[in-house]
Amino acid sequence: MKLKAKLLPALGLVVAVGIFFVLDIQAAAPTTAPVAPPAASAAPAKQYESFGNTRIIAMDPVKSMFSHSTHAIKAGLTCDSCHPDLFDRKRGSAKAKGDYTMASLDAGKYCGACHDGKTAFNTTGPETCKTCHGSDMKQPEMIVFNRPVKAVVFGHKQHVDMGLDCSSCHDKAFEMRKGAAEESPEKFIMKALYAGKYCGVCHNGNIAFASDTRCTSCHIGVKGLSRMLEKSAETKEPEKHGK
Ligand code: HEC
Ligand code: HEC
Ligand code: HEC
Ligand code: HEC
Ligand code: HEC
Ligand code: HEC
Repeated sequence: MKLKAKLLPALGLVVAVGIFFVLDIQAAAPTTAPVAPPAASAAPAKQYESFGNTRIIAMDPVKSMFSHSTHAIKAGLTCDSCHPDLFDRKRGSAKAKGDYTMASLDAGKYCGACHDGKTAFNTTGPETCKTCHGSDMKQPEMIVFNRPVKAVVFGHKQHVDMGLDCSSCHDKAFEMRKGAAEESPEKFIMKALYAGKYCGVCHNGNIAFASDTRCTSCHIGVKGLSRMLEKSAETKEPEKHGK
């Protein structure tokens, strides 16, 4: 871990940084819309407002947050504590490398070079998840999709317990937000699954049973759903969402 965090040496630099941020905010303004699928945009962006007017890079759709002004001004880190060793000066470049995951952070890469519980708060949570992700990242046990058709079940816990990494689904196949896929019912269809999207990333007859077989494993039907809900009412209510 090679951390070169130093206090900004001179007022001149602080001024320069100030100018940088002013210019940067203006330059970045028109491009702040997430590159993610259109469905991801609207509602949840609000949660960043608590950061006031600081410069935010919101890494959608995982909703992790990074603020230049917190790091470079409040925490007094110089630009070279991050650039170019940990991050390129180009938004989205860490993500493009393909290993921008919690496993990498926990191993001391990217944000994890400092967020290791020594230089800055750690990444192992649960209270810290919220500081970066804006939520406590509580995993749903069971999800019931109801759009476009009713009663498709997905055992979240069951899949995680099989040993699948969070990153095998998040955030390429699914956003980490219940109801996100259902916001585009015209896209969340069998054809997409057959084309290797959503559940079809794995349910292709190779990693897991194919999406064009065993329909009723995923589609438990309205009767199956009420049976399941009745049964689990004694134990734990599954999370319902969608319309
Ligand atoms: C604590 C780490 C850290 C520090 C310190 C830091 N940056 Fe960054 N910077 C980042 C991250 C993270 C990104 C986004 C990279 C990515 O998405 O791959 C970024 C992106 C950028 C970008 C691209 C912005 C865009 O919208 O494409 C510029 C320009 C930049 N930084 C300049 C600076 C300057 C100048 C300083 C010093 C005043 C600085 N950074 C200090 C972490 C840091
Ligand atoms: C220091 C900030 C930070 C903290 C603390 C943090 N994360 Fe993350 N997390 C990130 C960043 C950055 C990414 C990658 C974002 C991206 O892909 O745009 C990420 C990605 C993820 C992902 C998707 C990729 C993967 O690794 O599977 C999951 C799931 C995740 N975080 C869960 C958690 C949980 C659970 C906690 C608390 C135990 C947590 N994170 C704490 C910054 C953080
Ligand atoms: C060069 C070291 C360094 C790197 C790299 C770094 N941070 Fe930080 N971060 C700090 C320090 C120092 C603080 C302030 C002390 C603390 O809160 O523990 C901080 C604070 C934060 C905070 C709290 C901000 C607040 O307003 O309370 C968040 C959120 C955060 N970092 C997210 C990230 C994310 C996301 C990344 C990666 C994109 C990242 N950091 C990379 C050093 C770093
Ligand atoms: C096999 C796929 C898969 C794996 C693996 C997976 N998830 Fe998920 N997760 C989903 C799906 C599907 C959703 C719902 C997305 C939607 O409705 O569009 C979801 C939603 C979530 C949510 C949102 C909950 C809410 O209330 O909005 C969180 C948080 C989450 N997952 C965390 C995790 C974490 C942490 C891991 C790793 C320990 C993980 N997931 C692994 C598929 C997965
Ligand atoms: C990251 C890979 C991955 C993704 C994405 C994924 N699954 Fe699975 N799923 C598996 C594996 C592996 C198994 C176990 C092997 C098998 O049954 O073929 C499984 C098993 C299942 C089972 C059978 C459980 C049982 O009791 O036998 C159901 C139902 C299921 N998945 C539904 C879904 C649904 C619905 C989605 C999309 C919302 C989804 N899965 C997304 C990997 C995945
Ligand atoms: C791996 C899980 C899985 C399997 C297997 C599966 N489906 Fe689906 N199906 C889904 C998901 C997820 C959706 C989208 C969510 C929703 O509609 O609630 C969906 C949606 C649908 C839809 C509505 C959207 C569309 O494509 O028109 C139909 C119809 C459908 N499935 C039929 C079938 C049939 C028939 C089979 C068996 C040949 C099947 N499904 C097998 C998961 C599955």
